[in-house]
Amino acid sequence: MRLSRYFLPVMKETPADAQIASHRLMLRAGMIKQASAGIYSWLPLGYKVLKNIERIVHEEQIAAGHIPMLMPTLQPADLWRESGRYDAYGPEMLRIRDRQDRDMLYGPTNEEMITDIFRSHVSSYRDLPLTLYHIQWKFRDEVRPRFGVMRGREFYMKDGYNFDLTYEDAMHAYDRHMVSYLRSYERMGLRAIPMRADSGPIGGEDTHEFLVLADTGESEVFYDSTILDMKLGDRGIDYYDRAGLRNICETWTTPYARTDETHDQSLFEKIPEDRRRESRGIEVGQIFYFGTKYSAAMGATVAGPDGAKVPVHMGSHGIGVSRLVGALIEANHDEKGIIWPEGVTPFHVGIVNLRQGDGDCDAACERLLEATTALGLEPLYDDRNERAGAKFATMDLIGLPWRITVGPRGLKEGKVELTSRRTGESEEMSPEAAIDRIAQIYGIGHTPE
Ligand SMILES: Nc1ncnc2c1ncn2[C@@H]1O[C@H](COP(=O)(O)OP(=O)(O)O)[C@@H](O)[C@H]1O
Ligand SMILES: [Mg+2]
Repeated sequence: MRLSRYFLPVMKETPADAQIASHRLMLRAGMIKQASAGIYSWLPLGYKVLKNIERIVHEEQIAAGHIPMLMPTLQPADLWRESGRYDAYGPEMLRIRDRQDRDMLYGPTNEEMITDIFRSHVSSYRDLPLTLYHIQWKFRDEVRPRFGVMRGREFYMKDGYNFDLTYEDAMHAYDRHMVSYLRSYERMGLRAIPMRADSGPIGGEDTHEFLVLADTGESEVFYDSTILDMKLGDRGIDYYDRAGLRNICETWTTPYARTDETHDQSLFEKIPEDRRRESRGIEVGQIFYFGTKYSAAMGATVAGPDGAKVPVHMGSHGIGVSRLVGALIEANHDEKGIIWPEGVTPFHVGIVNLRQGDGDCDAACERLLEATTALGLEPLYDDRNERAGAKFATMDLIGLPWRITVGPRGLKEGKVELTSRRTGESEEMSPEAAIDRIAQIYGIGHTPE
């Protein structure tokens, strides 16, 4: 992509109404444009990041054996009357009436609709276990939408639903979700800590929230610092190995980690003092086992091995895909702008031409553009007639992790400069060496031992 032909409406001024870094930077970097309170258009750069996050979520869900599908944003109110949530949900639900005078709503979540699909098509335990999910826009008419995409009214969420015959099978689904979520966050370059959450008025169910540490988070969190050393890494995970999965989940949930809602000071004080941490966090996901709550209310039953009909055990599991864009920026920025982790960056590498119009510089940039594209990478070439300072400022603002700078002086010695956005360190090398390095960073043409 050439910047001269792209749509990147960056802003020089700091938007006055944006209170936190991610909101300010998303506006300044031309990633989003507010359409109305808590409702945003995703401009090309923001859209790319959103899609990258979505892709990682899809890949990890599919790897865990979960099946993608798509349900509509608009739902009939009758389904929600069956579960009793139509009245219970309150003013956060956007209610709509269509021309036939039917009560509709813009879905804030999909338990009712998925349960309806399930009961229409599944009647035997032989079709279980089953986990279906989709990534779809949701609407919740929040009282106080704020912080840009972090607390929107319209937001993009992955929500998955498991259907199982027994509690034990549902716990296996729970564990698959916990591990696939941890993997997804890790691939995005984020550390999200699973924390025991409040299961609400019913109690007895299992639920964990995943929190990214950030000063601007809405939740207060308390945790044992040993959890910061934990990593899933690249190891292969066998999602059908129940004991192995349980083991991983136990390792991740043993150190103390809770939000203010479930915090227990006396338990917390049992941790050595130097390991106790109190900070704030952003909720980027939640997994929930809720048993037969919806299946019993809506008649989602299967015939068990003995022929008797039983309501299925269910859980629902969400990842805040659009919120993650903001959370990633909260965790990865400096005073100059965003610093994308390689896993989600909108472009893999920026190419900056210091003297646009100079024959050698232009030709060298074109070659870099071609070579990186041929490797399957997406470069962003700043080919505008701008001063070096302006080009660097744009690159720093939009946060591409790597930049190749091409200037007449370096080229005379056959060199370009490769700069890391995160460390600010630059190294001179031949264009070929720079391409090799970039390819290696993104794991292209590199076979692991
Ligand atoms: N208003 C919102 N704006 C952006 N993302 C949201 C919003 N509400 C929820 N999410 C994301 O969707 C995920 C699943 O939602 P859920 O747990 O049902 O929400 P909540 O915890 O607000 O009840 C949350 O972990 C969060 O990441
Ligand atoms: Mg939640």
